[in-house]
Amino acid sequence: MDKVRVGIIATGSIARAHARGYRAHPEYEIVAIADSNGEALNLFGDQHNVDPTHRYLDFRAMLDREHLDVVSVCSWHGQHAEMTIAAAAHSPKLILCEKPMAVNLGEADNMIVAAKRNKVKLAIGHMRRFYRGWELARALVADGSIGTPQRAWSQIRDGLLNWGTHTLDGLLFVLGDPKVERVIGNIERKTDRYERAMRIEDACMGLMQLSNGCQVLIESDLTKYGSINFTIYGSEGTIIIDENTVKLMNASTQGWKQYEIEQNDPFAGQAQGLLDWLNGKVTEYRGEATLARATLEALLAVYESTRLHEAITMPLLTRVTPIDLLVEQGHVPVQYPGAYDIRSFLVRGEAMSWDIDSAR
Ligand SMILES: NC(=O)c1ccc[n+]([C@@H]2O[C@H](COP(=O)([O-])OP(=O)(O)OC[C@H]3O[C@@H](n4cnc5c(N)ncnc54)[C@H](O)[C@@H]3O)[C@@H](O)[C@H]2O)c1
Repeated sequence: MDKVRVGIIATGSIARAHARGYRAHPEYEIVAIADSNGEALNLFGDQHNVDPTHRYLDFRAMLDREHLDVVSVCSWHGQHAEMTIAAAAHSPKLILCEKPMAVNLGEADNMIVAAKRNKVKLAIGHMRRFYRGWELARALVADGSIGTPQRAWSQIRDGLLNWGTHTLDGLLFVLGDPKVERVIGNIERKTDRYERAMRIEDACMGLMQLSNGCQVLIESDLTKYGSINFTIYGSEGTIIIDENTVKLMNASTQGWKQYEIEQNDPFAGQAQGLLDWLNGKVTEYRGEATLARATLEALLAVYESTRLHEAITMPLLTRVTPIDLLVEQGHVPVQYPGAYDIRSFLVRGEAMSWDIDSAR
């Protein structure tokens, strides 16, 4: 059987996890890579034995020449849409774009349209859906172990769209993918803070009403503590969900019951899930783009709730990046000037961020 030809755009840190996932399955072969930084390109190419003649400084040249089946988009958030749309125009079978899907709903919708019109499957890198702990938790909630889910809570850090996309996506996954119906929230932004060239808040919280009656509270950067784990309280019990640990308490558990779960690599799980989708073994993929769009919409609604001083009822109609509107319209003036990027340690050479405007 022919190998699935994989090309990776942007060979930084997360590209390595994609490569690990593909390498866990002999069906895949990483045949080409692209990165505008030659050092990053060759370091990755040497580590992963990519033939030097299939390493590209220009990702469009790679897309033109390589006839790829699968394209991984592993760049910073502001480039996801541009690169995904360019890849879709070359009609690979599938694109796996990193999280968060995009920095606004206009871009997310364009990505979905580009994928549809070129008949490309579009997945977003919410690979945590493949953690065994999350799978078990979803099954326990569906079995009624906590009765009717009523409240869910998560405490994260490092930007709402950064960690928050995983935590909200995870909560929705465990709850069986209900819809987010209404969102109210607020942010504080006194410093000029960015995460991978996207404006972020200093602190925020968002309360979300779901279609199954459950309410989700996400707090971000309110304390120095945080994790992408969460707790769900139901009418008959409580469940605490970690990647590889699940703790349940209900009338029959006599205190906390901790499930022993064999640790797994979610990137390998994601790569297997994509193979199953490619081969038609499943018709619905658990990290499909429309699910990621719904998560993005709810997170962006926290910013719009801050700007408009109202609870946002879905659908969110704003198609540009709401946190940029908040700043540019003067709703959250910076009190301590000086832009900084909390992911500056990822940037090579003398740069402390990417050029924010061109990266967006
Ligand atoms: N799924 C997860 O758990 C997870 C974890 C970490 C990061 N991420 C996501 O992955 C994405 C990338 O983050 P990272 O930490 O790997 O960043 P990174 O800085 O390590 O890598 C980004 C790479 O993009 C390259 N690049 C920049 N402009 C380019 C261009 N025009 N063409 C080609 N390459 C270009 C850079 O040279 C760099 O090598 C982000 O969106 C982030 O949110 C996801």
